[in-house]
Amino acid sequence: MVGVYGMVHYSTQQRMREFGIRSATTFTGMALLWYRWPVPHTEPSPRANSRSLAENAWAAVRELLDRQLSPLGLRAMAALDPKPGERVLDVGCGAGQTVVQLAEAVGPAGEVVGIDIAPLLLEIARERAATHANVSFIEGDAQTSCLQAESFDAISSRFGVMAFGDPVEAFGNLHQALKPAGRLAFVCWRSLTENELDLLPLRAAGLEGAVDMTPFAFEDPARVRGVLRAAGFDEIAVEPHEQNVGSGGLEAMLSVVMTVGPLGKILREAPSLRGHRGFGWGRGVGVSNLTTSSSTPRNQSGGGAACCARDQPRATRQAR
Ligand SMILES: C[S@@+](CC[C@H](N)C(=O)[O-])C[C@H]1O[C@@H](n2cnc3c(N)ncnc32)[C@H](O)[C@@H]1O
Repeated sequence: MVGVYGMVHYSTQQRMREFGIRSATTFTGMALLWYRWPVPHTEPSPRANSRSLAENAWAAVRELLDRQLSPLGLRAMAALDPKPGERVLDVGCGAGQTVVQLAEAVGPAGEVVGIDIAPLLLEIARERAATHANVSFIEGDAQTSCLQAESFDAISSRFGVMAFGDPVEAFGNLHQALKPAGRLAFVCWRSLTENELDLLPLRAAGLEGAVDMTPFAFEDPARVRGVLRAAGFDEIAVEPHEQNVGSGGLEAMLSVVMTVGPLGKILREAPSLRGHRGFGWGRGVGVSNLTTSSSTPRNQSGGGAACCARDQPRATRQAR
């Protein structure tokens, strides 16, 4: 994958430059020194670096993203049906729009806890929810964080559950945190081919082959059901959902797709690709295709619209 190889290459070159190393021979010698006298080095791992690039990107376009994702998150929330007085966990809460929406749904007698691994997004979420006394946050991995057993009435997520390293372990952890008969509802992407908003810009850039498929990890409803069942959930419903969404205009949409989502990830991890032109021409899917698709308002609210498809899994906790 272009992004990953690009990053490995970059970090090696970078490290060599930092140590004033010019030849491969010298570099080998240094590698041995590192082996015998390991020193802590501050350079983040590719995975950590990728995560922090993502965090910064999401923070940069959070208002545009909220505008795009809000209707989809509200659909999941309608399936969850949070009630006044309930205690709800928001998984992968990001910059906190859904935390505030949930806090309003459960009212002052209820409580909402947002959990996320991204400190920068949590900082934004904390500021955003500052006027809600019934909101708190956990910085941690929802897969492994210690969540008090049987402490939540419901668990919600807007696109925050697809990146778990071990989904069964993660949903098992969430399951044990639910009260008996507690509910879980989340919204996640269907396949890339069903999501024009992601697919068309990738095709226009000729970068379809470089996609990280993590956001589409739950594209197969059978897999979603299998994971949830293995984690202890039953009464599982997966509802396909289709809706035109946008960020308010063509410029806004292009800014979003080039910052976040599959194309955004490729470009932020291999920024030199922004300078390349005409990737798509040979494949019959050029930039004009992208423009047409993105500029034609397809929803009532107008603006840059794109057709997106989602799955809407909902599950209840298995009674013990
Ligand atoms: C696509 S963003 C969605 C953010 C937010 N829910 C929204 O809709 O604006 C995915 C979020 O999930 C978080 N995330 C990913 N894996 C996680 C994990 N294992 N535990 C907690 N948060 C996680 C990311 O840091 C990110 O904020």
